[in-house]
Amino acid sequence: YKRITTKTLVDMKNRGEKISMLTAYDYTMAKIVDGSGIDVILVGDSASNVMAGHETTLPITLDQMIYHAASVIRGIERSLVVVDLPFGSYQSDPKEALRSAIRIMKESGAHAVKMEGGKEIKESIKRILNAGIPVMGHLGLTPQSIYKFGTYTVRAKEEEEAEKLIEDALLLEKTGCFAIVMEKIPAKLARQVAEKLTIPIIGIGAGNGVDGQVLVTHDMLGMTHEFNPRFLRRYLDLYTEMTNAFGQYSADVKSGNFPSDAEQY
Ligand code: KIV
Ligand code: NA
Repeated sequence: YKRITTKTLVDMKNRGEKISMLTAYDYTMAKIVDGSGIDVILVGDSASNVMAGHETTLPITLDQMIYHAASVIRGIERSLVVVDLPFGSYQSDPKEALRSAIRIMKESGAHAVKMEGGKEIKESIKRILNAGIPVMGHLGLTPQSIYKFGTYTVRAKEEEEAEKLIEDALLLEKTGCFAIVMEKIPAKLARQVAEKLTIPIIGIGAGNGVDGQVLVTHDMLGMTHEFNPRFLRRYLDLYTEMTNAFGQYSADVKSGNFPSDAEQY
């Protein structure tokens, strides 16, 4: 395998080749995702919801993100691994942001970090980039700000917020980010930004006019079933498959059918 780098992604955009990205938080899943040819693996702070059962992404800690990232790194050969800087690890000042990013790179072996926001975090992004750490941006619906938004509905539907998003995207590109995730914004706006910028735009709920797509793996596998946004395509119904498998195992244990003669020593 030829390893995917931040440069590969920009080359892909230039060739018009779309970028595939999925989340992983552990070794076993990362190994499968990497082996499937997915270009980018995101160790998302969605681990807070998916792995730990929190209602938001806010509670997950830097130490917990590093644990997830290190596990993912041990499972990959080809994919580029990007790790979310969690809430509270980069917002107070650029030095703290750099310290957090360095910890992620050193302690997990990840390839890049992702941060939510535009102009507000520009100085922190600069610091991190100056240390040689690639940064992926994240604009639109930024879940670490959920209590500011008050709702998980589509962002940037109004002129003012759309203009700020375009400005922020241009600023992130100029500052040196290698790509930007855009979450839950109108497809037309996302397409416009993707056409304006030379760095790749990876969408989630941002339509088909962008340079790549990202989904939360547990959602696209159908392991979760309470979460039903329009943008989510489920490729499997693992919730049902797993429930049936666990039920069958339990029935086999209780009936004495498992283990069979061949399954013992
Ligand atoms: O944490 C996450 O999974 C993310 C993606 C949804 C982009 O940030
Ligand atoms: Na995230």
